[in-house]
Amino acid sequence: MQIKAPTTSDAPMWDLLMGNYTFACLMVSAQLDITGLIDGGFDTCEKLSNKLQLSRKGIYLFILLLQHLGYINVTRNQLKNTELAKQYLDRNSQYYWGEVLLDPFNIYNVNHLNKKILTSLKHEYELECRGRSVTDMWRHDEMDGDSAAAFTHLMHAQGFASAVSAVQNGAFSNIQTLLDAGAGSGTIALAFCDAYPERNALLFDLAPVCMTAKEYVDKFAKKKQISIVEGDFFKQDWPTGCDGVCFSNVLHDWKPDTSIELLSKAYAALPKGGSVLIHDMLFNITKLTPVLFSFHLFMNHGAQLFSLEELFQLLNQAGFENPQCHKALGYFAVVSAIRP
Ligand SMILES: C[S@@+](CC[C@H](N)C(=O)[O-])C[C@H]1O[C@@H](n2cnc3c(N)ncnc32)[C@H](O)[C@@H]1O
Repeated sequence: MQIKAPTTSDAPMWDLLMGNYTFACLMVSAQLDITGLIDGGFDTCEKLSNKLQLSRKGIYLFILLLQHLGYINVTRNQLKNTELAKQYLDRNSQYYWGEVLLDPFNIYNVNHLNKKILTSLKHEYELECRGRSVTDMWRHDEMDGDSAAAFTHLMHAQGFASAVSAVQNGAFSNIQTLLDAGAGSGTIALAFCDAYPERNALLFDLAPVCMTAKEYVDKFAKKKQISIVEGDFFKQDWPTGCDGVCFSNVLHDWKPDTSIELLSKAYAALPKGGSVLIHDMLFNITKLTPVLFSFHLFMNHGAQLFSLEELFQLLNQAGFENPQCHKALGYFAVVSAIRP
């Protein structure tokens, strides 16, 4: 024999190649609202393909895929949404991932991902919106209203579930008045005020983002508890009078020196005994998704995820003491520390 047999299986190559389709399938499922249709009684492949006027054979395979991905259960040809679909694919769920799945910024468009990866490895690529770097717009308070709204809805869709879990797990139980810095829609403040109806929160973000945040405060009927403060957290004075400052999915957008700058501003805004709380995905060198997300943040903002140890170090450098880690949802945690 002249041709040597392969020394290892090519299954991982196939897994990755076919895996390319997985998120795109979820996007299409959201576009077609498969979850809503099943819920509305179109609960066989036949009913779905008739309703949508789509290929029966195609729909059969597509449903099989969604079954493999954990979104649908099939018993005797009868389709049922799983908990995963009910929570994150149902348009009426508070945790609907629609804005992520519809991908308004083309962030996950596989057509340009290889170019994005290579460009960011050569020289720092940055996520752009209307031809401008999002990081620059944040740095210089130049975010336009439409981009701010789209980005804020997207962040809400992917972050609210963990924010609610973090608060309901007790990570914020000692705080009376919470400043949600770089609040976006106010995921943490909304969850906090819902869990503690006698307590209050302030949302602090750039003016165009605050317009969208107001919609969420109204939607969740939290006007009495939540005030909104428009401002640039790099240049403007921070609101005072809070005993807790939270950074939810904020530090991961910045390099370590900028993260220390932000933590120092939180330190200055807090009274002695006040708490800083970081709600974020933790970097974990042994897990693929946090490594991928860290690379994603590098590509979008030249930034990274921080590990628990790195967050403890940053907190220490900013003067905080007694760092602790609380569980949030999935890959997320809340890391807190006290201003001595
Ligand atoms: C990744 S989002 C996180 C939003 C929200 N905390 C959440 O967990 O969904 C980062 C937030 O930081 C805000 N931000 C960025 N630069 C800012 C600045 N200079 N001043 C105030 N907020 C800023 C952005 O507008 C955005 O809402």
